[in-house]
Amino acid sequence: MRKSSRIYVAGHTGLLGRALLSVLGERGYTEVITRTHAELDLTDGLAVDGFFKRERPEYVFLSAGLTGGIVANLTYPAAFLHTNIAIQDSVFQAAQKYNAERVVFYGSSCMYPRDCPQPMKEEHMLTGAMEKTSEAYAIAKTVGVIACRAYNAQYKTKRFLALVPNSLYGPYDNFELETSHVLAGLIRRLYEAHIEGRERIALWGSGMPRREFLFSKDAAEASIFAMENADRLENTHYNIGSGADYSIKELAEMAAWGIGYAGAIEWDRTRPDGAERKILDSARFLSLGWRPKVNLEEGLKITCDWFVKNKVKMI
Ligand SMILES: NC(=O)c1ccc[n+]([C@@H]2O[C@H](COP(=O)([O-])OP(=O)(O)OC[C@H]3O[C@@H](n4cnc5c(N)ncnc54)[C@H](OP(=O)(O)O)[C@@H]3O)[C@@H](O)[C@H]2O)c1
Repeated sequence: MRKSSRIYVAGHTGLLGRALLSVLGERGYTEVITRTHAELDLTDGLAVDGFFKRERPEYVFLSAGLTGGIVANLTYPAAFLHTNIAIQDSVFQAAQKYNAERVVFYGSSCMYPRDCPQPMKEEHMLTGAMEKTSEAYAIAKTVGVIACRAYNAQYKTKRFLALVPNSLYGPYDNFELETSHVLAGLIRRLYEAHIEGRERIALWGSGMPRREFLFSKDAAEASIFAMENADRLENTHYNIGSGADYSIKELAEMAAWGIGYAGAIEWDRTRPDGAERKILDSARFLSLGWRPKVNLEEGLKITCDWFVKNKVKMI
């Protein structure tokens, strides 16, 4: 990418999109194109075609999509399936038709089988049944990864790059209790306990399952790295994780420290735990030279500080 390349960040108001804008800005890219959801509904193929025809983006970060936690996935599976497939399809078609140089697409770690060996490798995709609660979303993401491969193969290009980040977190995450992912939900709950001056809080599960998180800016850096090294990538997807997993208990303690909650944390073992461990094997992408920069402690502090500064009014 040249500093003057026309770069479209789709979904720039989201967690990853904000991080992409921030990193692209810091690195001096000057022609970054954005459209809000209201300005351009990416599920509308005709509208997306018109946008690509007019704007001719050369590089596309497809960080738009319908995302959410377990409750949202269970309540709106059809929306998760349709919206994500329609966005991918519209953008891939237009990017191919108007010759965008590169498109980065994001899969998800829930594409891997529910009982996947850990750490999860790229080749584990489609080797077993997926977790039922996120199946519709995971199938849509799998379609996107296969679409990248199919377009590249049919048109003999390296236009479509598929990255599979593990759970992301950072400023601008969704902190709504009904729709948030695990870490943002933890931060919100601990913050509420803190400002209400509660002496104890009960969190779901045993606290024992282990999870891997990637700071949103590290995912943005990985995406730019993928664009810059596209010629070295093979026509397959690449995992991008931090390489370190933590128990939910450790996460809660770190988040409590970040948010200033000093009360006791108890575990409600009557609530389900989910998979024991979920960590990606990112060796394939790491072998190209990318490294995450922000460890969980630093990233959580940045995220908690951002939440306290920006979201206090919501509560
Ligand atoms: N967050 C994670 O842990 C994670 C992990 C792996 C992969 N991913 C993938 O990475 C991508 C970005 O995730 P994220 O967490 O940044 O998501 P996010 O915070 O939910 O942001 C999604 C963005 O997409 C926009 N959007 C949704 N539907 C749209 C539509 N029909 N037309 C136009 N824009 C639309 C949203 O705008 P509005 O809010 O205005 O609708 C928002 O800007 C997604 O594809 C996600 O599946 C995320």
